[in-house]
Amino acid sequence: MTDRMTTAASQTASPAPSSPGAAVGAEAADATIAAIRADTVGFLGGGHMGRALIAALRRHGHPAAQILVGEPGADLRLALERDLGVRTTADNIEVAAAADILVLAVKPQDMAAALSPLQATLASRRPLIVSIAAGLPVARLRELCGAGAGTALPVVRAMPNRPALLGRGASGLYAPPDIPPEARARAEAVLAAAGMVAWIDSEMLMDAVTAVSGSGPAYFFRLAEALADAGRAQGLPAEVAARLAAATLAGAGAMAAADADLAGLRAAVTSRGGTTAAALTTLEAGGLERLVAEAVESATRRGRELAQAVPDSTVKRG
Ligand SMILES: NC(=O)c1ccc[n+]([C@@H]2O[C@H](COP(=O)([O-])OP(=O)(O)OC[C@H]3O[C@@H](n4cnc5c(N)ncnc54)[C@H](OP(=O)(O)O)[C@@H]3O)[C@@H](O)[C@H]2O)c1
Repeated sequence: MTDRMTTAASQTASPAPSSPGAAVGAEAADATIAAIRADTVGFLGGGHMGRALIAALRRHGHPAAQILVGEPGADLRLALERDLGVRTTADNIEVAAAADILVLAVKPQDMAAALSPLQATLASRRPLIVSIAAGLPVARLRELCGAGAGTALPVVRAMPNRPALLGRGASGLYAPPDIPPEARARAEAVLAAAGMVAWIDSEMLMDAVTAVSGSGPAYFFRLAEALADAGRAQGLPAEVAARLAAATLAGAGAMAAADADLAGLRAAVTSRGGTTAAALTTLEAGGLERLVAEAVESATRRGRELAQAVPDSTVKRG
């Protein structure tokens, strides 16, 4: 797989001074984001992930006047305007008419209803489309955008993860071969604002991205839960064990954010014959590597099943 996973193009983080390692790669991300400084970025959907990406763009200085969000929820619209200063509307056609880059941040099952009223506007404006919807392939997105009969619209797929909410996300991106480098760079800029990005050159691998980085935070949380339980079994008060485990997860994450050499990081904290080595030997003997491989395989398979189950269209609203 590694030969098809090409670039860890940029890495960035929330500028919040309280988060260790927060400045890692922030300048690189700022430089990447400069590629879209003149663009109006439209969003369909201002929910959790839409808002996370909008906040990340704002943190990196994208002008509020150049962000327009189509979102049916009045409360969400108000909160976006109040908290992030961006413009919002309940009319998606207004968004499609203004956007140079259109980020699709609605649920996969809402995509057909969101896009079908926009087809004429998209055909004349031809924005760069960046979809973060799980499981919807580029070919299907192009159909939904209405470009089936003419020249297909430029569509890039991205799969961010939850830490994007803190600007500490990890996103996989895929663009079909006909997308020029300039459009790739602009799509990358949107996601790089919210964390590191990695391009893959086979759309099939999107399910593997989901299995590694999309679902990945839950694996580390589960491991930290088990660590806290194990600490309690060794006599630590439950609350102390939980806080130690959570802080250790955060600290180790910050170290990994600064240096992606995971084996090197592990070796640096493992003395021969010491306590850490004893624990790691037990984990290896218990089949850690095989278990993780099986877990990621299960997640990849489930991603494929879910993608096939996305309904074509449930016309809810335009
Ligand atoms: N959350 C994650 O961790 C994550 C990670 C990777 C990818 N994604 C992808 O990101 C997308 C959004 O997920 P989310 O978690 O942000 O969902 P969400 O919080 O439900 O946000 C989606 C928003 O889109 C709105 N919406 C529905 N129909 C619309 C339409 N026609 N036009 C404009 N907005 C519309 C929804 O309003 P209503 O609630 O009123 O319907 C909702 O506010 C999904 O495709 C998901 O696969 C999410």
